[in-house]
Amino acid sequence: MTQQILQSSEITWDEDYRTRINPQLMTSLLRTSIPVLEQSDWTVTRVEDGCCETLLPLNKATTNQHGTHQAALVSLSADYTGGMALATLLRGVPLAGIHACHDDVSASLWLAGMNVRYKSPSTGHLTGICEIDLVQAEEIRKRYFRGSRVLATLQVRFYSNGELTAEAEMKYFAQPTIQLSPANSNPSRSTLFSHKLKASARMIAGIRARKSSHPKLKNHCPHANLVAGPHGELLADHLQEILPQLKDMVLTRSQHIDELLQQVPDLKQVVLAGAGLDMRSITHADTLPDVTFFEIDLPEMIAERERVTKLLPQDYRERRVLLSANFKVDDLAQILRQHPNFDTTLPTVIIFEGCSMYFSEAENQRIFRSFLELMDHPLSCVWADFVTQAVVTGRTNNLYIKNFLQGMDSLGESFVFGADDPTDWLKQLGFNFVETISAGEYLNEIDSVLSAYSFSVARR
Ligand SMILES: C[S@@+](CC[C@H](N)C(=O)[O-])C[C@H]1O[C@@H](n2cnc3c(N)ncnc32)[C@H](O)[C@@H]1O
Repeated sequence: MTQQILQSSEITWDEDYRTRINPQLMTSLLRTSIPVLEQSDWTVTRVEDGCCETLLPLNKATTNQHGTHQAALVSLSADYTGGMALATLLRGVPLAGIHACHDDVSASLWLAGMNVRYKSPSTGHLTGICEIDLVQAEEIRKRYFRGSRVLATLQVRFYSNGELTAEAEMKYFAQPTIQLSPANSNPSRSTLFSHKLKASARMIAGIRARKSSHPKLKNHCPHANLVAGPHGELLADHLQEILPQLKDMVLTRSQHIDELLQQVPDLKQVVLAGAGLDMRSITHADTLPDVTFFEIDLPEMIAERERVTKLLPQDYRERRVLLSANFKVDDLAQILRQHPNFDTTLPTVIIFEGCSMYFSEAENQRIFRSFLELMDHPLSCVWADFVTQAVVTGRTNNLYIKNFLQGMDSLGESFVFGADDPTDWLKQLGFNFVETISAGEYLNEIDSVLSAYSFSVARR
């Protein structure tokens, strides 16, 4: 990984300016990601290596009752002016959440603290300037490209009508995003990583809280709204705007799973692998009274599940087993086989919903092989969803899909795996009976997005 970071630094400033960090591009990307910048007409006006200048206009959206800038918007401008100056030093490195990029190449920047001194009311357009001196710039570059976390204190000055209006001391962290991922045991990953993780699970819950007008889609999760919260609702709005089919895709997969759970005779165990904020173990607790649910996810997500399920009127805790695991390093089969309540000889459904696309092919192979070790009963099966390879590689000509994948990249949840023939892929891993249906086939719809997404049920 350090190698990859070093290679990025070999890009010239001119090329970097043209393709990654020029004022027009950054104004547009930042305004897309942070709508308040668009509403206030905030603009990046000048970018140099180690320097950024921005403009916060004095207009209706930015002013207070005195007709001067709202103090909080000056702080907002300071945040992005300093952040941009810092980003100029990370030559060739896209910014997570801003540029369309994957975690393994991007940098994550976040504000750790700020101290703004407002010197006089700003009564004109406000120019913000952050200049990083050469010595500090070199130190920052060295640390980042060595693969270490950077903590940088930067000064941002604001001028209106030629007068110094405010001074801000901004403290930022910058770090290769890959170091925040679960495969990395670095303890510093927790805050930002945990935020990103919750964001995507909340987004799916936010989608699941909605109802479809499609005549085939009847199911609805009564708890999804609560567990998604306003954050999930907001993200669901955002991604559904980008990919209008998203709601029906999520509701179709949910319904397909619910139908499977009703079909397995004498079902005794359900494993929610990568459980996220799926509330199936609670919504089905009454209809499946003999079933024990095993809910497995990263520790951060299990903690979030604990928090939100306590908010529900009944959490059926006695029938649910919550387990923390990192599928990238832990052996799922071993964890479950060692659990006193899990029995591989009982009819079991393992649900790997909305997950395969986030793991590499090798990681998926390992995960599915471990599922096989849990399926000693002939009726036991795995349910999993897959996107096609074209979706992942961006080869699809569908603009909706492309934009959706960029949206997922911004959430830090890039798609990395797709299977064109999931039945064949699963059979090669040792599953002998596999049925696959696309979301389009399930809904009887001819739609290129729905046909690039399918569900498989695999038995030994
Ligand atoms: C898009 S969410 C889907 C959640 C849920 N199955 C659903 O459909 O609502 C993907 C889930 O995979 C989990 N996940 C991501 N990386 C993981 C890892 N390395 N080990 C275990 N779980 C992981 C996330 O925490 C998240 O809950």
